[in-house]
Amino acid sequence: MDALREFEVLIRAKYPIVYVVSWEEARVESALQEVAKKLGRQLHTWSVTQGMKPAVVRASGPVKPTTLPGELEALALVHEATESTAFLLKDFHPYLKDSRVVRLLRDLSSRLRGRDQTLFLSAPTLNLPVELEKDVTVVEYPLPEEKEILGQVEGVIASVKGRPGVNVDLSHDEKELIVRSAQGLTADEIESALARSLVETKSLNVEQIIEEKKQIVRKSGMLQFYPADNNLDDIGGHDLLKEWLKRRSKSFTDAAREFGIPYPKGVLLLGVQGCGKSLVAKAVSAAYSLPMLKMDVGRVFGSLVGQSEDNMRRAIRIAESLAPCILWIDELEKGFAGMGSSGVSDSGTTARVFATFLTWMQEKTKPVFLVATANDVSALPPELLRKGRFDEIFFIDLPDLDERKEIFRIHLTKRKRDPRKFKVPELAKLTDGFSGAEIEQVVVGALNKAFDEGRELSFSDLSEECQAQVPLSRMMAEDIAALREWARLRARPSAKRD
Ligand SMILES: Nc1ncnc2c1ncn2[C@@H]1O[C@H](COP(=O)(O)OP(=O)(O)OP(=O)(O)O)[C@@H](O)[C@H]1O
Ligand SMILES: [Mg+2]
Repeated sequence: MDALREFEVLIRAKYPIVYVVSWEEARVESALQEVAKKLGRQLHTWSVTQGMKPAVVRASGPVKPTTLPGELEALALVHEATESTAFLLKDFHPYLKDSRVVRLLRDLSSRLRGRDQTLFLSAPTLNLPVELEKDVTVVEYPLPEEKEILGQVEGVIASVKGRPGVNVDLSHDEKELIVRSAQGLTADEIESALARSLVETKSLNVEQIIEEKKQIVRKSGMLQFYPADNNLDDIGGHDLLKEWLKRRSKSFTDAAREFGIPYPKGVLLLGVQGCGKSLVAKAVSAAYSLPMLKMDVGRVFGSLVGQSEDNMRRAIRIAESLAPCILWIDELEKGFAGMGSSGVSDSGTTARVFATFLTWMQEKTKPVFLVATANDVSALPPELLRKGRFDEIFFIDLPDLDERKEIFRIHLTKRKRDPRKFKVPELAKLTDGFSGAEIEQVVVGALNKAFDEGRELSFSDLSEECQAQVPLSRMMAEDIAALREWARLRARPSAKRD
């Protein structure tokens, strides 16, 4: 409904050219039809296959056919048309690469300004040449809202009701669940999910809709579903962090809303390599029983101007359509590398994509819980760390003695060995400065050795492995000291350590 109002305002305020970003041509067209009718305008639509419909009539008679390429002719027709018209040129984005088209649009912009004539361009993605930035207004056409979806679901129910074998008697709650899970899909996608559900199960159910969403995630290329294969008990140490996470596990429920708790925004995990940052991120999904999406920031960056920001917005929209969910961004600093000085070299694209992301973090209302991890604090832009972005920033340090015991126990148990047989406290003493990943390596290395020699694992396999390995922290002592110093002032420790 808001979109209709926006179209109306733009037309009445005589905006010359409007770029509508949407996958849903049909919905855009019918919205424009409605507005045009209300305002007494004739709407002409154009596509490369259909040409201009209905044909444009000039004050001085019909327009003569030309030999111009279709897209140029379409613009010429807009130029020739009488007032009280509106035009929708569908899928016009490929032609914006042509300098003649760009020039014609600029000419049109000054001609249409102040006239009762509006030109709409529709396309699924936004890539606007810089020359046109000042002449074109961009509108993102929103996906169907709850009310619209409900109408659609009821339409489907009415059309199949009474057919033999089909059961579409849904309770109010069931209907609401379907409507809620269909948010974030286009009308066409909802239609096909519902149709598929009817074909496969003779009823309407949520699973098909979720399946449709998984498809979208897959096709996006930027996001990936991540199975919840770890839980918080697989993590040794980090007690404060685990407690913090557990305390928020019910924050996504309606009961929490009613209690007055806002949705948690997310958490940033900073720290030493191999100490469990990614592990914690993966465990959050299981702990909260929410689906997890991993964002590949590198893939967000596209080669065309404006494409990267558009990709970021699209990825965010997909994630929001799956809310409540967890969004995991691993190695955040790598994705946004070049934010500082070298940000200049990509003409600010990284900075703009990052700004899009920050704005979303600040303003997001949908329950998308962000879990971000980073190793190198110096590469992180300070804006990111400001209050209000993350609920909390945790520093993940090397495990202390007790934590190392716990990590040994976890990894021995995972490999079906009884930790009580291996003098774990002594192993923990031998591994001062080891990360969790290095402790896991000790266990794996010792197992390999024993297996190779055709016998069962012994304490001495493990202790020899401890002595053979040089932990990374010994070589990186200065870096770690600097990281700790930085974190002391800005982050919360993930555990009480000695
Ligand atoms: N605290 C821990 N408890 C149990 N296992 C751990 C712990 N820390 C690390 N590990 C083991 O080490 C592996 C690697 O850890 P992880 O990938 O989480 O480290 P990271 O902090 O993300 O490191 P990087 O900075 O290199 O990405 C984990 O899959 C896990 O098996
Ligand atoms: Mg990691």
